[in-house]
Amino acid sequence: MGSPSRYARSKGWRSPLIEWLGHDAWLRPYNTVIAGLNSPEQALSSKVMVYHGMGLIVAFDKGGVDEAAALVGKLCGVVDGFKVGVPFLLANGAASAGALREKCPSALWVADLKLADIGYVMGLTASIVAPFFDAVIAHGFVGYEGGLDELKRLLDEKDRKLIVVASMSHPGAAKTYDKVLGEVLEAIEAAKPWGVVAPATRPSIIRLVRERLGNTVKILAPGVGAQGARPGEALCAGADYEIVGRAITGSENPVEAARRIIEEQRKTLSSCRGAGQP
Ligand code: XMP
Repeated sequence: MGSPSRYARSKGWRSPLIEWLGHDAWLRPYNTVIAGLNSPEQALSSKVMVYHGMGLIVAFDKGGVDEAAALVGKLCGVVDGFKVGVPFLLANGAASAGALREKCPSALWVADLKLADIGYVMGLTASIVAPFFDAVIAHGFVGYEGGLDELKRLLDEKDRKLIVVASMSHPGAAKTYDKVLGEVLEAIEAAKPWGVVAPATRPSIIRLVRERLGNTVKILAPGVGAQGARPGEALCAGADYEIVGRAITGSENPVEAARRIIEEQRKTLSSCRGAGQP
């Protein structure tokens, strides 16, 4: 059947409960009719499993367009989204993302530019990639006034989403980003982005971000696989999506690797949340 998110989407179904939860929560029917859920209480009393966004985003950072496009075609319908990084876009050109997107237009497409400049310049950069992506990532430490505020305005005008880095997945970020997490989250609260990046490698940071921002944002968590975090751990801490690069793109069989990761996410989520089995 695939991931719960795809199942719910394929049914074109969005319950009031999902609206109530305010971020990705996907329901899968279990011997019951799923219409008419209006509260978490109802969900709990019915035979319906509630998932909080078991999502997987694949990161493309290197390689050529043809190779990447072929892989997107194979992963389309298996994973939830694709994140394209600066090395790929510099090597292949911003428009190369259009060729990838064509292979899976329904997925979430994220431009990982990690913008860190004054708002005006971040806006110029974001405008170049905006035609090919749903969302653009910027650093949170640049602050709100004259930074994230201008970028958010521009992306709103273009009907594109802003994603802001709250902290990073590599060890060094614990000594920099994490030290000013409160201030960065203040800027993020002011900017009201669609999404926030928080490290899968430090689930305690994800918990803090979720506690502080509530369900108003999606949390995207990189660091799974090559950087050491196990699939599902970040979801258990409150993330909506886990981002995986090399563990999928560097695998001999990327589709198989993605399926294994999704299965591991499901198992880990089941044990941390006590969710039922499909
Ligand atoms: P790997 O191969 O390590 O790739 O699975 C991870 C992908 O995620 C990006 N990355 C981050 N992006 N904040 C971000 O916005 C982070 O803390 C972070 N850590 C990793 C990385 O660029 C690669 O595409």
